[in-house]
Amino acid sequence: MRPLNIAVLGATGSIGRQTLDVIDRNPERFKLFGLTEGVRSANRKVEYTISGQSGVGDFDARVEAMVTDARCDLVVVAIPGARALGPTLAALRAGKEVALATKEVLVMAGALVMKAAGARGIRPVDSEHSAIWQCLWGEELENVRRLVITSSGGPFWAHPDMDLDQVTVEQALNHPRWSMGPKVTVDSATLMNKGLEAIEAHHLYRMPLGRISVCIHPQSVVHSLVEFVDGSFKAQLGRPDMRLPIAVALAYPDRLPDAVPQTSIKELSGLEFYDLDERRFPSVGLARRAAAEGGGNPAVLNAANEEAVNAFLAGEIAFSRIVPIVEEALGAFPGGGESLEEILEADRWARGWIRENFGTVRRA
Ligand SMILES: NC(=O)c1ccc[n+]([C@@H]2O[C@H](COP(=O)([O-])OP(=O)(O)OC[C@H]3O[C@@H](n4cnc5c(N)ncnc54)[C@H](OP(=O)(O)O)[C@@H]3O)[C@@H](O)[C@H]2O)c1
Repeated sequence: MRPLNIAVLGATGSIGRQTLDVIDRNPERFKLFGLTEGVRSANRKVEYTISGQSGVGDFDARVEAMVTDARCDLVVVAIPGARALGPTLAALRAGKEVALATKEVLVMAGALVMKAAGARGIRPVDSEHSAIWQCLWGEELENVRRLVITSSGGPFWAHPDMDLDQVTVEQALNHPRWSMGPKVTVDSATLMNKGLEAIEAHHLYRMPLGRISVCIHPQSVVHSLVEFVDGSFKAQLGRPDMRLPIAVALAYPDRLPDAVPQTSIKELSGLEFYDLDERRFPSVGLARRAAAEGGGNPAVLNAANEEAVNAFLAGEIAFSRIVPIVEEALGAFPGGGESLEEILEADRWARGWIRENFGTVRRA
């Protein structure tokens, strides 16, 4: 059988580079077919190399041509934010397999994206969703009581006395367990990442939000759990290394030998679990409310958060302002439907509203 032709969107990023690593180490199974890069270069000779620095229209058209190319089998989506939505929909509508890292795509337009995916579904790359996916293999969804998404708690959970007004960018980017891009690392510090992941899981596994919970698990060994109606739990465990969920997504339904170094059983000991303190970290509750409201609200949540995180990274607002700004944007949103146009309009509205009301907040 010929190797799977893979296109990687965001090949120079944290997920993108680790995906290239998995592809490179398995040349008999995978072939890098095409890629997009941003300000950095991936330095690869492939069928398509598309620069994120080209104009938006040109970038979108070229990415669409790549992901719908008859020779392309699988598309890995790892460009952060709203920019990944169009290419994901194009790939799914062309019948391609999609391995999705960019959770924002499902947060903004989960219903549309899952409809485009149809029975084929989407291969999750996020470690939590990969864990849930693996726990669900061979199970009936009607036998699931709830999904439990684990969180390391980020850099501030273990410091309850820390004044979140004083947090520096450097402190927020210092994640205790995972090495990731800046946007998702700040989302891990506010725990908005878990709010976005709850919405992502709701769409991926067609699970009501009320049956998805978040718990703190500082060791990041259990990547998430599924509880079944009979009282059993299934969990997926492993070292915090994104190459594992990437390998699972690329090789499905097979498994790649030695995708990551073997873990000793001692590394899996001393596991702790705590309830999430929703008063200190209100982001998960906010995300749930936005998803329950539906329409353009999740897109507003996502866009306002992206703008606020960028403003924090640029030193323009305090860390503790990120989530309240998102809440204010949701409160001001006049509402809107769930068509692609309306979702993109909600995204534009949120960015415009933030620029108008918090003048110093810069473009993403
Ligand atoms: N990193 C993780 O462990 C992890 C885990 C789970 C989910 N995710 C999700 O995966 C996605 C990617 O995360 P990441 O950590 O890999 O991000 P990252 O390290 O910041 O990389 C982002 C990639 O997208 C490119 N890019 C950025 N903005 C772009 C734009 N406007 N147009 C075109 N290309 C653009 C970047 O290019 P340049 O760098 O060359 O500019 C880079 O290739 C995010 O949605 C994140 O939430 C990440």
